[in-house]
Amino acid sequence: MPITLPPINRRHFITGTISGAAALLFHPVWSAEPDERQSQDVWAFLSDTHIPENRNQTGGTPSINPVEHLSKIRTDILSGEIGKPCGVIVSGDCVYLHGLPGDYKTLFEEFMPFREKGLPVHFVMGNHDNRHVFLNAVAQSTATNTPPIIPSRLHSIVETPKVNFFLLDSLEKTNHTPGLFGEEQLQWLTDELDSHKDKPAILVGHHNPDYSGNIVKASGALQDTAVFFEQIRERKQVKAYFYGHTHTWKTLRVNGIHMINIPATAWRFDQSQPFAWVLLTLKDNGMSLTLRSIDPEHPKHNEIVNLAWR
Ligand SMILES: [Fe+2]
Repeated sequence: MPITLPPINRRHFITGTISGAAALLFHPVWSAEPDERQSQDVWAFLSDTHIPENRNQTGGTPSINPVEHLSKIRTDILSGEIGKPCGVIVSGDCVYLHGLPGDYKTLFEEFMPFREKGLPVHFVMGNHDNRHVFLNAVAQSTATNTPPIIPSRLHSIVETPKVNFFLLDSLEKTNHTPGLFGEEQLQWLTDELDSHKDKPAILVGHHNPDYSGNIVKASGALQDTAVFFEQIRERKQVKAYFYGHTHTWKTLRVNGIHMINIPATAWRFDQSQPFAWVLLTLKDNGMSLTLRSIDPEHPKHNEIVNLAWR
């Protein structure tokens, strides 16, 4: 069960026919319909937005205001200065720390301007999210019921003309650092990859793989990295894995698969890292990534990384 916040028809929004988050919907498969206004090959990636209920709440060292940071990034994305994304993907840790109901209320409100501009928003669960509370918040917003059984993971496929995005869920326990895809989800992933061989697959999750190959539970990484890598290595349609969690901008290659670490929009653990988002442009045989820092003086601002598919 994935969570997509679909675009809002602005006319309906203004007249109140659809009010605010009442247009939240569940989609088993989200098809990015061709739209003459926006290319379906351009996407905005954000991670670790850490939105709290209270817009004045700060966090991190030195402390910053996550809502203010998201606001600056939202303005940059919607300005279309470097490209016009057709949608937004947030790779986890959407809310502050404990996945509280009020956090999700503010989160939905802060992402509303994207939806009003016709951009769907796809959320991925991180270790500071809470699946049950998130689904409750969606149900409350849509005047529907929370699913009677909370799925163990929220995963989905976003189909686009050039690639299929597989959105994965590595939340094992809220406010507990390590992550786990789990056997059930990995089985779903391999089944779906096997039935979607026609296009390149880009996987998106929250947790960083453990590149050492020696999983230590306290490391905070993806605990089932070894099985995950084993399953995607031989499936040649898998071209990239996007993730967040470490609040770091980094790209590397493992078995020919691009590993893209999306930086945080909220706090950072290494002060040299940018607060930033990434513009993804899909090509026929690869992709281009452009880093957009909140601080235009940051040395990585406007860095472009061109990557070819294996
Ligand atoms: Fe985070």
